[in-house]
Amino acid sequence: MSAHPWSPAPGDSPPHQSHPESILIVDFGSQVTQLIARRVREAGVYSEIVPFTQAEAAFRRMRPKGIILSGSPASVPEDGSPRAPQMLFDAGVPILGICYGQQVMTHQLGGEVRPGHETGAEGLRGGEFGRAFLTVTADCALFDGLWQVGERHQVWMSHGDKVTRFAPGFEIVATSDGAPFAVIADEARRFYGTQFHPEVVHTPDGGRLIANFVRHVCGLSGDWTMAEFRKNKIAEIRAQVGDKRVICGLSGGVDSAVAAVLIHEAIGDQLTCVFVDHGLMRLNEAVEVVTLFRDHYNIPLVHVEAEDLFLGGLKGLTDPEAKRKFIGKTFIDVFEAEAKKLGGADFLAQGTLYPDVIESVSFTGGPSVTIKSHHNVGGLPERMNMALVEPLRELFKDEVRELGRELGLPEAFVGRHPFPGPGLAIRIPGEVTKERCNILRKADAIYLEEIRNAGLYDAIWQAFAVLLPVKTVGVMGDGRTYDSVCALRAVTSTDGMTADVFPYDASFLTRVATRIVNEVKGINRVVYDYTSKPPGTIEWE
Ligand code: XMP
Repeated sequence: MSAHPWSPAPGDSPPHQSHPESILIVDFGSQVTQLIARRVREAGVYSEIVPFTQAEAAFRRMRPKGIILSGSPASVPEDGSPRAPQMLFDAGVPILGICYGQQVMTHQLGGEVRPGHETGAEGLRGGEFGRAFLTVTADCALFDGLWQVGERHQVWMSHGDKVTRFAPGFEIVATSDGAPFAVIADEARRFYGTQFHPEVVHTPDGGRLIANFVRHVCGLSGDWTMAEFRKNKIAEIRAQVGDKRVICGLSGGVDSAVAAVLIHEAIGDQLTCVFVDHGLMRLNEAVEVVTLFRDHYNIPLVHVEAEDLFLGGLKGLTDPEAKRKFIGKTFIDVFEAEAKKLGGADFLAQGTLYPDVIESVSFTGGPSVTIKSHHNVGGLPERMNMALVEPLRELFKDEVRELGRELGLPEAFVGRHPFPGPGLAIRIPGEVTKERCNILRKADAIYLEEIRNAGLYDAIWQAFAVLLPVKTVGVMGDGRTYDSVCALRAVTSTDGMTADVFPYDASFLTRVATRIVNEVKGINRVVYDYTSKPPGTIEWE
């Protein structure tokens, strides 16, 4: 691949220009607004999420073929709660209001919304939270080819307030026990409102309902692809960065790699990658990263070998958070020093994905507790006074992989299981030493080799070995052994936020256990972790 295959062409569209076939998603602050965009993307349609305060300007710029109003933590009956620009309702464009979106549309068009505490029974919260069933009571374009009158369907609700009188022109097309106005429709204006959330996976037909809206109701052809995403992002990156310099920290994982290759396509050698090798990578991983980027992609790459620094500092640390904090801080120190050596840069590129964005919000804002301080490089941009380039911010892991394929990254790299920033340090409960890292690397490599041989790698979200700080007695040959326990983990997941245990055959686990104990000195017992997330987390620390 040439160093700069996407040199600016006069016809290249700048970012955020009107796209001939787009959907405007008006964001009222729901935690799951990005899921709406994802479902729209899955339907092959381009969309942009815009805060409600900027929706009118966005509408004039984009000239969208349809509008989706998101959910919100706010309450329509409360003074000062967000409203949609009134002009959106007069624009002659189809609208789908979801949850708060349905309520705000109802309110603004002359219907009534009341708070849950007024509509619930005495002493009860009112509203519905979680799984619910609705009954289809009338046909509507949203349900075409999908739901028939009289059928019951599972949906996911999360609302206190509810519509108590629909606006003129609307009719009820589905009801649920807790929400008589579960779905309302004004077929003449092509306005639809769902009290439930079609964008979440707990509404099994939700994706198809949204596809019906964008394709069938709004009449879009559904030919938007990852290739288009790539082209748009490249234009966006160029517009953001101009002729400035960007530094990207490579972790060895898929996300930072895809971000780096994409940014390199956009701005060529204005990008420098820095790979801080903390010595906590898996077997041969560091070499693979350096070879791929330096030799294959020809991307300027600084490889910082900092194993001694990291392992030295980890000495004596056993508390998981202390380990994470040390690694995060040291990473920043090393990265910053390298950036200085390179003469600085204006932008820091990160492979932040959408689930990281949601997790960071709940980790830092509000009363939720810190489960793990994941974002070990979170303080970097502020400290280095750099702006962020995060081209993957709205994508989910599987979409990043698709983009990686689109960019021509090797399948073996793109399909890789996620690997955490602090690396093997959080897979070695207790003190991390070079010797224990080496033992774990061998066991992990055997485990992954067997998974690949069995053709299971792609069916698993993440599989890895953990080296426990526990010794047990064994017998090998005629001798007694007293060695460490290795735990194997394998989970299925769609985004890492929840996970199920991968159900191996007993014969597979027996084969792996036998090989590890026979081949890895220092391990004499292997166990399989049978905990889902929640209540467990995927990593052990
Ligand atoms: P947990 O263990 O929280 O992990 O269930 C969920 C997903 O996140 C990965 N993970 C991390 N990734 N830095 C990262 O970049 C971290 O500190 C970190 N901790 C966990 C984990 O591997 C899984 O994919």
